[in-house]
Amino acid sequence: MTYILVTGSSRGIGAAAQKLLSERGVNVIGHGTRPGDPSCIAADFTNPLAAQLLWEEALDRSGGAISAVVNNAGLFSPNAIDSSDIEWLDGWEDTLRINLTAAAQLSRFAVRHWNNHAPGSDGVRGRLVHVASRAAYRGDSPAHWHYAAAKGGMVAMHKTIARAYASQGIVSFAITPGFTDTSMADDYLDSRGGAGLLADIPLGRVATPEEIARIIAFCALDAPASMTGAVIDANGASYVR
Ligand SMILES: NC(=O)c1ccc[n+]([C@@H]2O[C@H](COP(=O)([O-])OP(=O)(O)OC[C@H]3O[C@@H](n4cnc5c(N)ncnc54)[C@H](OP(=O)(O)O)[C@@H]3O)[C@@H](O)[C@H]2O)c1
Repeated sequence: MTYILVTGSSRGIGAAAQKLLSERGVNVIGHGTRPGDPSCIAADFTNPLAAQLLWEEALDRSGGAISAVVNNAGLFSPNAIDSSDIEWLDGWEDTLRINLTAAAQLSRFAVRHWNNHAPGSDGVRGRLVHVASRAAYRGDSPAHWHYAAAKGGMVAMHKTIARAYASQGIVSFAITPGFTDTSMADDYLDSRGGAGLLADIPLGRVATPEEIARIIAFCALDAPASMTGAVIDANGASYVR
């Protein structure tokens, strides 16, 4: 049985990934902030201990057999430059902790765990998949310094892990989506700056959560080890590197 921990699987891209991975026979250990959903372990990453508790509970549920961790949970919340000093700092620290520090903690626990386990027949001991953002390369809106910094940090962390542990059979992939419509309502475009943003996307539309989930599943199950260190864009050619 293959067990994969997917953070932020309670909705959006993570929920689409959970569905697709489950359809492929994976036992997905899901996560969200709200208790009560048996398919999700509740952990609020603003609490510095939450990532560790999540990892321990996930290991327990899998009998120590987690083969991949998908660092997908994230917060995209504006932090206005003219808010009070303490509000701005709180906003910065929450976003960095949720979007980057928790992913780093989980990656560290996973690397240490996999280092004590034998590799599979393909030589791979474990897979990390980091859902970053186009913002890592392009930056984001004036109210999202923190978000872009967290995602840029995630890409740099991913590359470092990939280079450090490839020889031990631990592989790492990062995905950098552009706008992805995860909203159940029609307010998605408004929340991201209005319909004008489509003019900036040669594909003419934003991505769907199912498209990003397909890339997550590829990285978590299929990507060859030689791809470790790769960053996969999915932005309708709105930012071509
Ligand atoms: N949607 C986009 O346009 C887009 C573009 C580029 C990159 N991304 C990245 O893709 C990932 C998924 O995005 P999404 O649009 O699917 O997000 P979403 O629909 O807003 O869902 C966010 C997920 O993260 C969890 N989360 C939020 N705050 C948390 C906290 N304090 N502690 C732990 N978990 C928390 C949520 O749990 P609850 O349900 O319990 O709140 C939920 O499962 C994120 O990393 C995001 O930055 C998204």
